[in-house]
Amino acid sequence: MSDHSLWGGRFESGPSEVLWRYTASEIDRRMLPDDIRGSVAHVTMLGATGILDASDTDTLLRALEQVAQEVERGHFTFAETDEDVHTAVERRVIELAGPVGGKLHTGRSRNDQVATDLRLHLERQAADRVGGIHALVGVLAGKAAEVGDTIVPSFTHHQQAQAVPLAHHLLAHAWALLRDAERFEDAVGRIARSPLGAGASGGSMFPLDPAISTKALGWDRHFENSMDAVASRDFVSEYGFVLAQCMAHLSRLAEELILWTTTEFGWAMYADDVTTGSSAMPQKKNPDIAELARGRSARVIAASNALLTLQKGLSLTYFRDLQEDKEIVFAADDLVRDTLEAIGALLSSATFDPPPPSSWVTALDLAEALAVRGVPFREAHHAVGVVVAALSADGRDLGDATLDDLIAADERFEASDLEVLDPAESVRRRRSIGGGSFESVAAQLEAIRSLVG
Ligand code: ARG
Repeated sequence: MSDHSLWGGRFESGPSEVLWRYTASEIDRRMLPDDIRGSVAHVTMLGATGILDASDTDTLLRALEQVAQEVERGHFTFAETDEDVHTAVERRVIELAGPVGGKLHTGRSRNDQVATDLRLHLERQAADRVGGIHALVGVLAGKAAEVGDTIVPSFTHHQQAQAVPLAHHLLAHAWALLRDAERFEDAVGRIARSPLGAGASGGSMFPLDPAISTKALGWDRHFENSMDAVASRDFVSEYGFVLAQCMAHLSRLAEELILWTTTEFGWAMYADDVTTGSSAMPQKKNPDIAELARGRSARVIAASNALLTLQKGLSLTYFRDLQEDKEIVFAADDLVRDTLEAIGALLSSATFDPPPPSSWVTALDLAEALAVRGVPFREAHHAVGVVVAALSADGRDLGDATLDDLIAADERFEASDLEVLDPAESVRRRRSIGGGSFESVAAQLEAIRSLVG
């Protein structure tokens, strides 16, 4: 390692190979466009405040524009002596602009620079995640429309609970994911605050004006305290939490996709090209995408934890520890991006043909049939409990009940109450807003389509 002109002045020897291998960062290369944008904003501010004259400002902006073009065309190359992405861009600007390039870092430190870059990057990534979520929600909505009036049991405690449209079940996942999209957007409200102009930690003797660089970044808020600006990473751990919550939702959906395709459930089949076979058991068709999504959620949840752990013992302000935030958050972000896509592919291929629910799922409907006529719900619940016990003792289902069976438990039952013992009829009678009725599903589909296009 020879040319480390960025900070080599006080060093007699260059860095050892082991130091370099251990400390240099490559993961941050994905922030290359963000680093250039941050530098353009900084130079724009240096020019507007008169800290740099028009000629130097212009030279720097043109060099940065050229670097941006090299990046876009895939021509940008990293040198072995580039400690990180910031060093790489500055080195290239100096190569292109000559000594004036050395003015790029005026009033700036890599400490405010890296915080800026990461904020810019996560803002972009958040928009991408929202797009991925909307695409998956579109798949869920499409399937919900496709399955029409198919009825399944809802479950509580893994026991068949109430009859609901399968579409209602599918859309439940859509709403959870839409809240994740909302959380990504909310997080951007705190991510998009510029730390540029905070310098190394205490500001600068140059009259830096963060409002100008903030505007150049397209944002409208900047730091209030330079130490907080370079030390804080709560915007990263917040993004990490949103990733973890989204992945937990995906994992929960994955778990159901796995269950649904078991012989025991028999709800869903997935296409051959999104399932895998067993090397031993020829009959198997495994939902590996869903299993890996569930498994990988462990890594994303761990990342959320790791981002907090990274911060908890750090005194103010910048420590190199903070370089690790990128390794952690980028890996988790990639997993969520890929999982949204893969689960979407698996679900798109699904064909649903679930068996009808057992008639026991209508027990609550039977109680409600009494309750709507003014019988206190607690008495109605008891009466149906008595019917359930009597039928079970005879080895009969609730759907086998006769009016005599009902009246034996409570004489306020009427013949028309027998109709609700059909799960399909129970769904048709569902009235509550947002409940498992076909009207509710239609309203949800309309609302979701207006959200995701
Ligand atoms: N690569 C570093 C990081 O990711 C950039 C900041 C380096 N600053 C410093 N003073 N060494 O955090």
